[in-house]
Amino acid sequence: MTESLRERLEQLRREVERELETANGPARVEEIRVRTLGKKGALTAEAKAIGALPPAERPEAGELVNAIKDALEAAIAAREADLAGSELSRRLEAEALDVTLPARRRGQGTRHPLSIVTADLLDVFRRMGFSVASGPEVETPWHNFEALNIPAGHPAREEMDTIYLAGRDLLLRTHTSPVQIRVMESREPPVRVVCPGRVFRSDTPDASHSPYFHQIEGLWVEEGISLAHLKWALVEFVHQFFGPDVDTRFRPSYFPFTEPSGELDMQCLLCRGGGCRTCKGTGWLELLGCGMVHPAVLEAVGWDSERYTGFAWGMGVERVAMLKYGVPDIRMFFENDVRFLRQFEGR
Ligand code: DAH
Repeated sequence: MTESLRERLEQLRREVERELETANGPARVEEIRVRTLGKKGALTAEAKAIGALPPAERPEAGELVNAIKDALEAAIAAREADLAGSELSRRLEAEALDVTLPARRRGQGTRHPLSIVTADLLDVFRRMGFSVASGPEVETPWHNFEALNIPAGHPAREEMDTIYLAGRDLLLRTHTSPVQIRVMESREPPVRVVCPGRVFRSDTPDASHSPYFHQIEGLWVEEGISLAHLKWALVEFVHQFFGPDVDTRFRPSYFPFTEPSGELDMQCLLCRGGGCRTCKGTGWLELLGCGMVHPAVLEAVGWDSERYTGFAWGMGVERVAMLKYGVPDIRMFFENDVRFLRQFEGR
């Protein structure tokens, strides 16, 4: 076999391979195939020409032509498969149809305004050294009334009418004050606690009444505690929670479980003391009831009322939340209307 023949065959192979590489579609590959391997193709012509070679050269030339033919057939098939693959992916992309639904957003929820206010109130008292205690919502009459110096037949019991269970052996607590009793029953003095919780009264709901609401009770009993401590703690609380410029005043009052008893008013936040609808023209808002723990309460839990003294207070969480956020109706806290609740997102 002459070198020029080998050279020509190899060159044909290289050319066809190069053309295949840049062939950009199945039609072009087919055209290359026909032109090379078809009946009148370039390689076919070379195969036919072998017969005209001297007999000694024929086997080698035949072998080379066949090898090139096999190689090109394989290259053509590979290129065809390649193009079919990319054609498919192009079509898939162009004709793609997204049948997935966007995921349904799961609301993260938000803290209830009463939870926010309770946590903020407790924070202030924690910084003053109070710890947090809690008690049951279903109470005994002893804890809710008698131990708090409210004997059967006492008029204060009428005001705090509630739902009784198990005959009249248990009741839904009417205030958080029974937690004072439970704390003192289970510990030794001194105690300094705040007790948040839900309370119940048989009230007809209206803008300012609800048969259930929340209170925070406070109790500090220790040797040497006086009215001055009460005044300091509660005024300090108002200043920390509502602002250092808010005025306060104490008024005498009556609770069976404190002596003396008082109520703490704060300057109306809306009119700053000038008088408006919220404060009924007085410039003051009632904030909480308080007093020095009655000796009878200390004796009821077996604590020596000659040695220990203390003060206590109780306040409504809804009332504070209504003032803080300007909520006009207490029922809004319990209706679970998300349009109301969403306004507290992120607070
Ligand atoms: N328990 C009272 C109520 O529900 C609030 C209260 C007043 C609690 C004075 C106290 C207190 O501890 O000293 O109306």
